[in-house]
Amino acid sequence: AKKNLILAFESSCDETSVAVIEDGQKILSNIVATQILSHQRFGGVVPEVASRHHIEQITKCIDKALNEAAVDYDDLSAVAVTYGPGLVGSLLVGVTAAKMVAWAHQLPLVPVNHMAGHLYAARFENQFAYPQLALLVSGGHTELVYMASEHEYEIIGETRDDAAGEAYDKIGRVLGVNYPAGKTIDEWAAKGSDTFHFPRAMEKEDNYDFSFSGLKSAFINTVHNANQRGQKLDKYDLAASFQQSVVDVLAEKTMRALSDYPVKQLILAGGVAANHGLRKRLERDLKEQHPEVELLMAPLKLCGDNAAMIGAAGWVNYLHGDRAGWDLNAVPGLSF
Ligand code: KG4
Ligand code: ZN
Repeated sequence: AKKNLILAFESSCDETSVAVIEDGQKILSNIVATQILSHQRFGGVVPEVASRHHIEQITKCIDKALNEAAVDYDDLSAVAVTYGPGLVGSLLVGVTAAKMVAWAHQLPLVPVNHMAGHLYAARFENQFAYPQLALLVSGGHTELVYMASEHEYEIIGETRDDAAGEAYDKIGRVLGVNYPAGKTIDEWAAKGSDTFHFPRAMEKEDNYDFSFSGLKSAFINTVHNANQRGQKLDKYDLAASFQQSVVDVLAEKTMRALSDYPVKQLILAGGVAANHGLRKRLERDLKEQHPEVELLMAPLKLCGDNAAMIGAAGWVNYLHGDRAGWDLNAVPGLSF
């Protein structure tokens, strides 16, 4: 018998994931097969390797997700899938698998934007209220999204070059940290202090955009110059200085946006939302500058890519009547 259950697929980058979500808010299962170890020796995700791993993992993930949730295909109301943004070959594996299940079991196919998925990672333990602002920070994107109401997304600011997570991964590489470097740099940052005062690009500019490539270059030059002089810099201070610069800019631009866009809630989500410095800073700034705004942060275990968040966003899309045809294609550059 049909229940309010959605089977969700996520395969946009280097995580193969399938989840079963009830009523858009209850996680019955959330299977995540990570490929990180296969990409580490290359220092980043190799698209061709990623697609092959997704193909190997996807049906196993479906079986595990249904088993763990103890549900049958007949119980499902819909199938949701990330169709962008992401790596085209990776996305196609999830899209094809979702189509296959939807076709075979005559279920509606619901398309989901990966970034909307990240946002909905913050809704499992909370109720959303609108208008709302979201700071979405991941390995591929850094954006401020305004939502006047549910299912209505407007990007008001974004990075002009590197995403925040991308910058973490690139500077981590210079320090010999395995991909993805964000978590380790975050831990090191807690043990050091901002002694290098790296640039804070566009911090005072009257917009909501970001830029992280200048910071990345400044960081890399500092380390290379020291290496050439045979000087060893303190990695904890380097990490703390880098992080302080990232957090300053993210927090400042978010507070500026909140002054211009009165909202009920601020959402923090995406892989970089796991950052302890960023979480603490937003909590503090919000209390001081916009105490009327409620801060909802994605739980740490749901900040990274997973299908549970796609199921949550997918359920909302489903209720709004979003349907994809059998011609649904991957859209690598999908935006809101
Ligand atoms: O959202 P996500 O899992 O994948 C994308 O959609 O891109 O984000 C992954 C990114 C990586 O760049 C990783 O280094 C970063 O999130 N990340 C962090 C932390 N944990 C993961 N960055 C900073 N601090 C963290 N604690
Ligand atoms: Zn992501």
